[in-house]
Amino acid sequence: MTDTDIKKGLAGVVVDYTAVSKVNPETNSLLYRGYPVQELAANCSFEQVAYLLWYGELPTDAELAEFERVERGQRALGDNVKAVIDLIPTTAHPMDVIRTAVSAIGASDPDADLATVASSLNKAARLYAQLPAIVAYDQRRRRGEDLVPPRKDLGYSENFLWMTFEEVPDQVVVDAFTVSMILYAEHSFNASTFTARVITSTLSDLYSAVVGGIGALKGPLHGGANEAVMHAFDEIGTADRAEAWLDDALANKRKIMGFGHRVYKNGDSRVPTMKAALDTLAEHYNRPDMLELYETLEQAMGSRKNIKPNLDYPSGPAYNLMGFDTLTFTPLFVASRIVGWTAHIMEQAASNALIRPLSAYNGPDERHLPG
Ligand code: CMC
Repeated sequence: MTDTDIKKGLAGVVVDYTAVSKVNPETNSLLYRGYPVQELAANCSFEQVAYLLWYGELPTDAELAEFERVERGQRALGDNVKAVIDLIPTTAHPMDVIRTAVSAIGASDPDADLATVASSLNKAARLYAQLPAIVAYDQRRRRGEDLVPPRKDLGYSENFLWMTFEEVPDQVVVDAFTVSMILYAEHSFNASTFTARVITSTLSDLYSAVVGGIGALKGPLHGGANEAVMHAFDEIGTADRAEAWLDDALANKRKIMGFGHRVYKNGDSRVPTMKAALDTLAEHYNRPDMLELYETLEQAMGSRKNIKPNLDYPSGPAYNLMGFDTLTFTPLFVASRIVGWTAHIMEQAASNALIRPLSAYNGPDERHLPG
């Protein structure tokens, strides 16, 4: 075994097939079940994309109506889950709250059937329907506000925003939110999806796999980056300070959050679509300063390191403009990625092989206790 046999970080290693999505860094494309994500973001609701990722095809009108009926019927937070959330201090990171709430939902699921596709789809649909209530309620309780019950007359995005802010914002805001949900929904074998697949491969249950995915997503090298982007923007303040801030950060060997990607080396295919959504939000809220800071830092990062933004770079400021707390950004990613995770969990379960790689030992040679 030589150093070149070690695939640190599994970089470049292909571990399995997937029919859920295709990332092609050469053509800078991301396909969900064959459809370019940009086309889906421009033309579909989040409900349609969730259906596509789970069932492999876009829904007919009748299928969509039934899918929406089921989702709208399961949105309300159970009393037991609310009680569990209320036990957690409001100083806890929201990702810890979500992780615990999903565990509580799993622990109270009366359906112990872990194996069938129908049962997994039911569990996935339940989490997809309830995560918005968890995310919205946690932001509200941190602000000292009461829970806002869901409204069945609203679509997924409108209802999510309603439960968070107790008002439905203008359509441009709803549309930008939907775009972010669609772009975050799925991205092949990223760290959190792979974590969920590893857990599934042991024949563990769907909730355990999702809880593991949430843990992996929390880190700033993955989903936590959208939150970290906003912390950087807060630190920088105004565009005229961006270059000096960046030079200082790079001199101190800091990673600049929202830039770089393991797979895309020439730019993340999702960024132009999310940047366009950010542009509409900045215009709507009359915040040209946000765009100025965004573009100055992007250009400076390009000239210093030639590293391009990833999806977390435009989504962080977009969520800020929508009114979300910075701490809520990564939970929003969870509410979207639940769809991709569960599609992969079901795919893994359907053609399972225990995921168990090897390691190269570099500890002490064999030795023995004295005497
Ligand atoms: N800031 C500064 N330098 C960077 C950055 C960055 N954001 N990204 C890469 N580099 C440098 C890195 O220091 C290294 O330089 P050198 O060879 O001189 O040591 C080189 O580029 C290669 O970086 P790497 O970290 O070895 O590459 P990787 O493929 O392991 O990293 C990454 C990918 C996403 C972990 C990394 O780019 C990073 O830490 N980015 C910041 C965190 C971030 O935005 N994460 C969100 C990822 S996309 C959304 C998601 O899937 O969740």
